[in-house]
Amino acid sequence: MKILGIETSCDETALCILEAEGDTLSPRFNVLGTSLFSQIDIHKEYGGVFPMLAKREHGKNLIPLFEKLLSDTEMLEKTAAHESKKKEIEELLVKEPELREHFFSFISAIKKPDIDAIAVTTGPGLEPALWVGINFARALHAMWGIPVIPVNHMEGHILSPLLQENTQNKPVEFPALALLISGGHTELVLIKEWGTYQILGSTRDDAVGEAFDKVARMLSLPYPGGPHISKLAEESRTHKTSTPPFKLPRPMLNSDNYDFSFSGLKTAVLYGLKEKGELTQEETQGLAQEFEDAITDVLIAKTFRALDEFGARTLIIGGGVVANSFIRKTFEEKLREHPEVTLLVPTINLATDNAVMIAMAGYFNFKIGTKNNSTFKASGNLKLEQKP
Ligand code: KG4
Ligand code: ZN
Repeated sequence: MKILGIETSCDETALCILEAEGDTLSPRFNVLGTSLFSQIDIHKEYGGVFPMLAKREHGKNLIPLFEKLLSDTEMLEKTAAHESKKKEIEELLVKEPELREHFFSFISAIKKPDIDAIAVTTGPGLEPALWVGINFARALHAMWGIPVIPVNHMEGHILSPLLQENTQNKPVEFPALALLISGGHTELVLIKEWGTYQILGSTRDDAVGEAFDKVARMLSLPYPGGPHISKLAEESRTHKTSTPPFKLPRPMLNSDNYDFSFSGLKTAVLYGLKEKGELTQEETQGLAQEFEDAITDVLIAKTFRALDEFGARTLIIGGGVVANSFIRKTFEEKLREHPEVTLLVPTINLATDNAVMIAMAGYFNFKIGTKNNSTFKASGNLKLEQKP
C-alpha cells in the first residue's frame, strides 16, 4: 500500500510517500518520494523553536511541499477545478489561516492521487504545530476519503532504522530495547513486540539534545548546538592536545533506575565557565569533548544495564542525537562485546525528524489494527504506552 506521511510536530515540515508491504516482522519499505522544509534558519535567531511561528510556517509550507512531492512521484494530475466540498473544507481549516489560503484552490484542481492511507503525527510535540499536520490530514480525508492513521512521533523514531538498507535484512528480535535521544526526549523503551512499549526510564529534566543545545548556547554556538559541540569535540580528539578546563559530573550514572538527568551537567558547565572566564579555542574543544564523554558515559551505562537485565536481542537507537558520530561509534564498539545483540541505527537523514518514519509507524499501526479515523486530536505529551 502507499502511505502519505505527515510530520509537523516541531520545526521540520516533512511529507513523504512510502510504499509498504509485508507483515510487521518482515516489512518491506520503499520510499517513493520525500519533501521537507527545515525551519531551523527561522528559529535560529531566537535560539530555540517558537510554537506559534512553527505553526505559521507549517501552514505556509505544506501545500508547496505537497505539490512538489506529488510532482516528484508522478502523481500530480491536473483536472478541472470544482467547488464541491469547499464549505466543509473551509470550516475544517478555520484555525489554519495560512493553510486554508491555498489548500482548496490547489486540491480542487487535481485528481485524487494513488494513496491508500495518510499517517500523521498527533504527538508528542508542540500542539499548535501538531494541529496543522492533523488538520491537513483531516482536510485531505474530507476531500478524497483517504483513511487517516494517527502516529506517535516517538514510535516513528523507534521504527526509523527499519528501511532495508539500514537493517541489511537483519530481523528485529524481541525483546528489543530502544534508546531514544532527541531534542525533546530521552527514553529507554522495552519492546516485547511491535506496538507494546514499556518506558523503563526517561529524563527528569533536560533531554540529551536539549543539553547539547543549552551548552552550545553558553559557548555562543548557533542553534541547534549538537552538531557544533560534536565538531569541537572531534577536533579535540584528533589533536589529542586539548585538555578539559574542568571536569563534569556523570549525573545519575550509578542510580538504581533507568532515569536520566542532564540539567546538572548544564549547570556545571555554567559555573565552570564563570570561574574560568574566557576559554581558549583548545579549552573550548576540551570542554566539548568532556561534555560529550559525560553524556556518552551515562547513556552507555544505563543502556547496557537494561540490555543485561531484560536480555534484549536488538538495540535500537533513534532520535536526532544519533547523528552524533562519537555516540554512535561508542555504542558500536561496546556492542562488539555482545555479539548476541543486533544494533539498529537510522541513517542521519532518518535520525532527525522526518515523515518516512511516521509513514512506517502508520503502516505498523494499520497492520496491528489501531483504530483509524479523522477526529483525533493533537496531544503534546502523548506517551508511548498510550495509543494515539
Ligand atoms: O529528533 P530531532 O531532530 O528533533 C526532536 O524531536 O527533538 O533532534 C534534534 C536534536 C537537537 O537538540 C540537536 O542539537 C541534536 O538533535 N543533534 C545532535 C547532533 N545533531 C543533531 N546532538 C549531538 N550531536 C549531533 N551531531
Ligand atoms: Zn523527533
